[in-house]
Amino acid sequence: MTSALIDSYGRVATDLRVSLTDRCNLRCTYCMPEEGLQWLARPDLLDDDEIVRLVRIAVTELGVRDVRFTGGEPLLRPGLVGIVERCAALDPRPRISLTTNGIGLGRTADALRAAGLDRVNVSLDTLRPDVFHRLTRRNRHHDVVEGLAAASAAGLAPVKVNTVLMRGLNDDEAPDLLAWALEHGYELRFIEQMPLDAQHGWQRADMVTAEEILAALSARYSLTPEEDGARGSAPAERWLVDGGPARVGVIASVTRPFCRACDRTRLTADGQVRNCLFAREESDLRGALRSGAPDARIAELWRAAMWGKKAGSGLDDPAFLQPQRPMSAIGG
Ligand code: 5AD
Ligand code: SF4
Repeated sequence: MTSALIDSYGRVATDLRVSLTDRCNLRCTYCMPEEGLQWLARPDLLDDDEIVRLVRIAVTELGVRDVRFTGGEPLLRPGLVGIVERCAALDPRPRISLTTNGIGLGRTADALRAAGLDRVNVSLDTLRPDVFHRLTRRNRHHDVVEGLAAASAAGLAPVKVNTVLMRGLNDDEAPDLLAWALEHGYELRFIEQMPLDAQHGWQRADMVTAEEILAALSARYSLTPEEDGARGSAPAERWLVDGGPARVGVIASVTRPFCRACDRTRLTADGQVRNCLFAREESDLRGALRSGAPDARIAELWRAAMWGKKAGSGLDDPAFLQPQRPMSAIGG
């Protein structure tokens, strides 16, 4: 390794998130409008070879150890299994995970596991099919539950479930969701809703806070914080449920940001490095790739992009401006 992805505050990025597509087959209200978005054009997307090359540069030259594929919905990417397989063959081999809405995982979990996928995070916000339909604008609750079961059966462990609570919609479900996750052996993590929706409709007052979530869970379960230091750079603060070993996580991205320990670097589906979810600037790697730049030049551009990472998300700054691109185009 030549040198790592460090920023001017001394943080080191070792966790790469790669968005494989900005498209999705759901329309979660906290993410996208009903009619979807203006999707990226095919020629603008990195092709499979370009993605594998960038991941190779990240793990061999830049010290990246974890690679997570996201979207949009990454299972919509036709070459996903091949991309995973080629990334798993790299030396050093990164840990490889996937953040997905779970639709189609029932059919692909075994192939992904065989290709070298280590883990999945599946988004599921409710146990009620009618609420799922209202929240995602699609009647696919059953497919997600089936996808989760397939992931578990395929050994993609630990299977994590990501949940966003919305006031008046599913905010009464926290303890039920936890009971259900415990029963199935899934690790549940609640994520505070962030201002990353394409419609720019986020309001702080509508957000269900970590504090509210913990209060709701504590009505049914006894929660004890995991020993100090266990959080590391992980954004989730974790609690042992009824003494453990089962755990629940809460990602308080808004009320208790974890920017000081952030170890993320992000690549959009069209080949732009983002040094933060909330960054307002991106650095183009696709242009360099397509104009024949050698690995060393691409690594240098990537390092320069990370060096300029801001200290924090700026969410608490009155002048905070939401990033131009929504979550679905950045990759969770
Ligand atoms: N705030 C918080 N979480 C979000 N996700 C998508 N949009 C938002 C948002 N505005 C979640 C998805 C998924 C993960 C990638 O991020 O539910 O679990
Ligand atoms: Fe799709 Fe995820 Fe956005 Fe929902 S949150 S619309 S599943 S990209």
